[in-house]
Amino acid sequence: MLRRLHKDQPTSFAFTPDNQVWAEAQITKYPEGRQASAIIPLLWRAQEQEGWLTRPAIEHISDMLGMAYIRGLEVASFYFMFQLQPVGRVAHIQICGTLSCMICGAEDLIAVCREKIADKPHVLSADGKFSWEEVECLGACTNAPMAQIGKDYYEDLTAQGLSDLLDGFASGEVATPGPQNGRYSSEPLSGLSSLKEYESGKTQYNASVQLATDIGDTIKRIDGTEVPFLAPWQGGAVATPAKAKAEKAKPAKAVKAKPAKAKPAKAEAKAPKEKPATAKKVAKAEAAKVDTSAVASAGTKPKTRKAPRKSGADDLKMIKGVGPKLEKLLNTLGFFHFNQISKWTDAEVAWVDQNLEGFKGRVSRDNWVKQAEVLASGGETEFATRVKKGGVY
Ligand code: FES
Repeated sequence: MLRRLHKDQPTSFAFTPDNQVWAEAQITKYPEGRQASAIIPLLWRAQEQEGWLTRPAIEHISDMLGMAYIRGLEVASFYFMFQLQPVGRVAHIQICGTLSCMICGAEDLIAVCREKIADKPHVLSADGKFSWEEVECLGACTNAPMAQIGKDYYEDLTAQGLSDLLDGFASGEVATPGPQNGRYSSEPLSGLSSLKEYESGKTQYNASVQLATDIGDTIKRIDGTEVPFLAPWQGGAVATPAKAKAEKAKPAKAVKAKPAKAKPAKAEAKAPKEKPATAKKVAKAEAAKVDTSAVASAGTKPKTRKAPRKSGADDLKMIKGVGPKLEKLLNTLGFFHFNQISKWTDAEVAWVDQNLEGFKGRVSRDNWVKQAEVLASGGETEFATRVKKGGVY
């Protein structure tokens, strides 16, 4: 299937304030220079917010991640989960058309969609409320045929059942997801023949349906107020409406406190304790700490300095791929200025690449020499512009 941007596009895109905070938090999960790894969650959140992925959304997110627009577009157009055209205002219906579902009646479900929504997939219904498409196996084959509507699965469907569901959605009702034929989950239709002891004490619905029902965001657009700002592994807790509101009031502090600022602060705090050290002395002391036994011998060691020039060290974080830790490491190795880096030969790049403990290979991977050439001549790279604007964390 040809996947292209829709011909009608809005003029702009912005995350809601809560989604913006959420998106920025996602970016902090990835190491310096790897922010592009956040592309899928960010695109997905944009789609959850708008219903579909617009060109301005793809470009906005590409900008946030320092990616060329074409790279963002490549991701958005590769994965079928991203909708590149408007979807129904109320719901987008995804009918599984793979083997089990096809054998069990998926074609009947598609016929309902053709009749009640639009003759072709990815076309809005006359009232704009619905759209539909056929998708590949959604992994609920024992409950075939099935459809994903919004975030939830509706299983063991019949043509009449789907038709009723659509009527319900159109009038504002959201049916309970899961099996629609009375089954609890995916047990035999005639009931359990083994593991019967698990029948007692079960929750009202199976675990997936129970969770979906508890969350209750089936076909809702997501503006960021529904979820906890921090994921559980980040120290957050599962959201309750009250918790989500409380989190909403103080999100930015929590995110921005995380990135590497804490460590440099410690290091700075150390110097005054020892003695009122000059910048030169600190740099010297740091240089002395480099474990020379770990210094690899590949390539040629470039010319180094014991300290920055009087005018002060350059902000090496302007180079894409250099974060606070790497900048410190470069300083301890004797590199403080763009024009030092811009002069590295291939052999010298090889030496530095080998000696960036924990960051080996970064110099060539991100082409620091080219970047440093631009910066040393007073120019600005696209990445440096973003750093200055505060768009890099
Ligand atoms: Fe339809 Fe697997 S074949 S869910």
